[in-house]
Amino acid sequence: MMRRAALLACVAMPLAVAAQDKPKDKEMPVTELIDLVGCTLCHQVDNRILGPSFKEVAVKYRNDKEALPRVAERIQKGSKGIWGEVAMPPNNVKPEEAKRIAEWVLAR
Ligand code: HEC
Repeated sequence: MMRRAALLACVAMPLAVAAQDKPKDKEMPVTELIDLVGCTLCHQVDNRILGPSFKEVAVKYRNDKEALPRVAERIQKGSKGIWGEVAMPPNNVKPEEAKRIAEWVLAR
């Protein structure tokens, strides 16, 4: 399992970096934004791949009213130790984009 995760990280990270150069549109739907930024290389809505599924993230924080800013910050700056052994690297999103995505994730 760890070997598979490490391999996935090697594949996913350069792809995520390559995706950073494309222009982002302010009004872009969140589903397109997360494709463009590379989130979907490691996350799906329904299934756990390298990272947790967005549904399980929503369930975990369902009763936590303070979750939104924390989740948004982790989306931007990266996260480790919450879901398992694999860390999430920082992502190329602005604070307002991270907040918009976090709202969307928590509503899954
Ligand atoms: C290289 C793989 C990878 C990429 C790219 C990635 N993630 Fe993650 N993500 C992870 C992993 C692994 C975790 C679990 C980290 C932990 O255990 O703390 C995680 C955790 C999360 C969480 C849960 C944070 C929490 O507060 O519990 C959210 C939400 C999330 N990612 C959203 C995103 C979004 C949105 C993007 C794109 C902007 C993104 N991720 C890009 C791998 C990735």
